Amino acid sequence: MPPPILIAPSLLSVDFAHLEDGLRMVESGGADLHHVDVMDGHFVPNLSIGPPVVKSVANVAKIPLDCHLMVTDPLTYAERFAKMGVWCVTFHIEVCDDPAAMAAAFRAMGVRVGVALNPPTPVEKLERALDHVDMVLVMSVNPGFGGQKFMGEVLPKVEALRGRYGFGGDIEMDGGIAPATIADCAAAGANVLVAGSAVYGADDPAARISELRTLAEDARAPTAAGSR
Ligand code: DX5
Ligand code: ZN
Repeated sequence: MPPPILIAPSLLSVDFAHLEDGLRMVESGGADLHHVDVMDGHFVPNLSIGPPVVKSVANVAKIPLDCHLMVTDPLTYAERFAKMGVWCVTFHIEVCDDPAAMAAAFRAMGVRVGVALNPPTPVEKLERALDHVDMVLVMSVNPGFGGQKFMGEVLPKVEALRGRYGFGGDIEMDGGIAPATIADCAAAGANVLVAGSAVYGADDPAARISELRTLAEDARAPTAAGSR
C-alpha cells in the first residue's frame, strides 16, 4: 500500500495580513499539513518567509508543517526549522553534491527529510538520495511563485520513482495542483499533494480540500487494492 493521501495547502497563497485566519480556515477545512515555502531570492527569483515567521506559525498551528526550502544553502537553515518540530524539511537536489550526507545531517537534527527536484532535473539525479530520504518532492512548476500552470510532463518521474526505483516513501507534488490535475498526480503514485491557489483562492476552501482529497483517493483506488 502506498502512503496515505495528504492534502497540504501552501501558505504562499495566504493573505499574510490575516495569517492566523488562513491557518484556521484550512485546518478546520480538513487540511493535513501546512506547506511552508521558504525562498532566498537566489535559488528562486523571489523572497517569501523565513525562520521568524515560520516559528510563529509553528507555535500556533494545529497541524504539522511541511517546510520546502528553496534556498541555495539549506544546511545553514535546516536546524532552525527542525527545532520547530516540523513534519519534514525538504532541500533541493540542484544545490546538493552529496545528498546522502545532506539527508544524514537533517536526520541528525531529528527531522524527517525530503529531497526536491525541479521540472528540468532528470529523476536519475535522485539515485544517490533515495535510500536516505523519507520523501521526494517532484516539482510540477518551476519554483518561485504560486498560481502557475501544472506541468504534466513531470508525471513520468513519479511513475519511475514508484515503479523502476521502488520508492515506498512519501512522494509530494507541488505546483498547479487543482481539481483538474490532482487525479493524474495520485494515479502516478504521488500521495502528498500541495495546493496553494486552488485552496486559498477557492470560494469555499473546505469544500475544495474535500474535493481534492476525494479526487486523489479515487484516482488511485484501483492500484491501492491491486498491483502497486
Ligand atoms: C512554488 C511553491 C509552491 C506554490 C504552489 O514555488 O513551491 O508551493 O505555493 O502554488 P500553487 O498551488 O498555486 O501552484
Ligand atoms: Zn512548495
